[in-house]
Amino acid sequence: MSRYQHSKQLLERAAKVLAGGVSSEFRKYNHPHALFYSEGKGSRITDVDRNVYLDFTLSQGPLILGHSHPEVLAAIGSYSERGQLYAGQHIQEIELAEKLAALIPSAELIRFCLDGSTAVQTAFRVARAKTGKQKFLRFEGHYHGWLDDVAWGISTPSPEALGSREEPAAHPWSAGIAANTRDEFIILPWNDLELVKKTLEQQHQEIAAVITEPVMCNNGCIQPVEGFLEGLRALCDHYGIALIFDEVITGFRLGLGGAQSYFNVTPDLSVFAKAMGSGYPVSAVVGRREWMEPIEQSVVIHAGTMNSSCPMIAAALATVQVLERDKPYRRMFALGQRLMTGLTEAARECKQNLFVNGPGPMFNTCFTDLEKMRDYRDTLKTDKPKLNRFVAAMHDRGIRVIGRGLWYISAVHTEEEIDTAIQVAKEVLAEL
Ligand SMILES: Cc1ncc(COP(=O)(O)O)c(C=O)c1O
Repeated sequence: MSRYQHSKQLLERAAKVLAGGVSSEFRKYNHPHALFYSEGKGSRITDVDRNVYLDFTLSQGPLILGHSHPEVLAAIGSYSERGQLYAGQHIQEIELAEKLAALIPSAELIRFCLDGSTAVQTAFRVARAKTGKQKFLRFEGHYHGWLDDVAWGISTPSPEALGSREEPAAHPWSAGIAANTRDEFIILPWNDLELVKKTLEQQHQEIAAVITEPVMCNNGCIQPVEGFLEGLRALCDHYGIALIFDEVITGFRLGLGGAQSYFNVTPDLSVFAKAMGSGYPVSAVVGRREWMEPIEQSVVIHAGTMNSSCPMIAAALATVQVLERDKPYRRMFALGQRLMTGLTEAARECKQNLFVNGPGPMFNTCFTDLEKMRDYRDTLKTDKPKLNRFVAAMHDRGIRVIGRGLWYISAVHTEEEIDTAIQVAKEVLAEL
């Protein structure tokens, strides 16, 4: 009998009423099919077949304090007992915003949204209003949500289909995307400042914003080359363009001040989500006062019935308070580095071309003979079928990793768990 039998039955039932059996496209690609879970506690998650996994997906990143953190749950419970949503303000919103303003270098004014995708769109609207220009410049392989104007350039039918570096061909991620959204952006390979410079020289009159993930977490977990983020900052200053950091993953993961503190480059606007809310739907668009003024003055409209509900703000406030009190970052970096080193050594022993890349609290594994990766184009030179076999075999042995090779470390993972994952990887790599 399959170890995923009960999940399979539930998936058949789900597929009759949930389109594709899931509520988000990515959940289809679990191993060996979409799975159903019954509980999550700390670093472990249990599926309905009672398989227990050491979880390095952390639900695609949000669960920085692990599953079901007691203090987060207590805060949500006690705060939402009094009320859920007021179509009005409540005091914890101010407390959370004050905290973000104190921690995040670019956060002078803040608005709360529900998720990363809508927060990104809010930042675009502000940048357009402030500059009077229409387009944004973005980078191949960077994921900024699932909405139309950014659902390009994150998948490609073949490496050749990408076209030249100077004039890349961006492919839509989905059918049904409004074709005219292709006119809203210019796309370039990442980590190539000269190319950005040249493009802005020629087209800065049309460009309202440059948006980047400060670390390209969504493809290869590639870090910026020296001077790249600083160079973007200088170019945006020169041309009066908004620099937007999409910190949906890096926020609260690289430190309390996000990637902007970690790399010491302050954007004009930035977007926080995932780890800020421990699994509750909360995100923030934050910015320097002059950039957020259009929202402050109702020149730009930002709205949402469900924004800053009591449970989501309580979840975020408790998460940030725990992170601030416990300061788990040194530990998360050390655990991540230990795991990265262990995996690299295991691969060397087994003569496997596993490439491990990232800062530590999140990192990526793929199979390639490249010694360095710089951009999305490099990530297409990896052996995806082999990665799929690796991730599936790890999963069958109780180690849960995101299918595209991304690993997240939480504040509650232990050294023993890291060593268990390395040991399991050794077994898998030996058999691969
Ligand atoms: C860097 C980045 N930006 C934006 C998003 C979109 O966020 P959400 O899924 O909360 O809409 C994601 C989601 O994975 C992301 O990784």
